[in-house]
Amino acid sequence: MNSPSAHKIIAIDGPAASGKSSVARELARRLGFVYVNSGAMYRAITWLVLDRGIPADDAAAIEQLAESVAIACELRDRDSFVRIDGVDPEPFLREDRVNDNVSLVSSVPRVREILVDHLRRYAVTNDLVMEGRDIGSVVFPETPFKFYIDASPEIRLRRRAAQGQRDRVTARDEADSSRRASPLIIAEDAHVIDSSNLTIDGVVGEIIGRLKLKGLTIAR
Ligand code: DC
Repeated sequence: MNSPSAHKIIAIDGPAASGKSSVARELARRLGFVYVNSGAMYRAITWLVLDRGIPADDAAAIEQLAESVAIACELRDRDSFVRIDGVDPEPFLREDRVNDNVSLVSSVPRVREILVDHLRRYAVTNDLVMEGRDIGSVVFPETPFKFYIDASPEIRLRRRAAQGQRDRVTARDEADSSRRASPLIIAEDAHVIDSSNLTIDGVVGEIIGRLKLKGLTIAR
């Protein structure tokens, strides 16, 4: 399914803890669009891999699991949720072991193909704000609304620590940027925002200004 969507898609990419989740959620709320956190899908499959006792470097077993498991995407109140193998994985998505292994699991090309297919389906019936690593470059390359949110490594580490999480963000960035299959890159036509010294509202305001310039009608 690669045809351009009739719905509006705002792609927000960036490294770990750059602030993109908070920004994407608030932007979706302001626009009345559906919010999709694609990282949650990669985290969900990583949790299942670990829960089944599959080593995170066993690409063949991971591929087999991804092909056989039931993945259901649901919308509630303009927010997206995933069920995997009939389970709501939300309570487990930010476990240390998931943080530690998600980059490896998400480097398996077949995992990416399967999840990208699910992610694209959201756009069949909804206007979206979707955040991730490859949304503007691979999932919806045709959208004119692409943003890349960055922040200094120090600020990003501080943000994760403030959330009480042990997350080696720079190691994840290195792995996510250097993998073969759809690495984290700045899409050519993305507007880059450094959020290091900006509030969430500041970043959302900059995005909305840019969207208006690009001709997106914003009702509220
Ligand atoms: O956004 P996040 O930090 O929750 O994402 C967790 C991991 O999932 C990230 O380190 C790499 C992977 N990911 C990806 O490969 N592609 C995406 N579009 C989103 C996340």
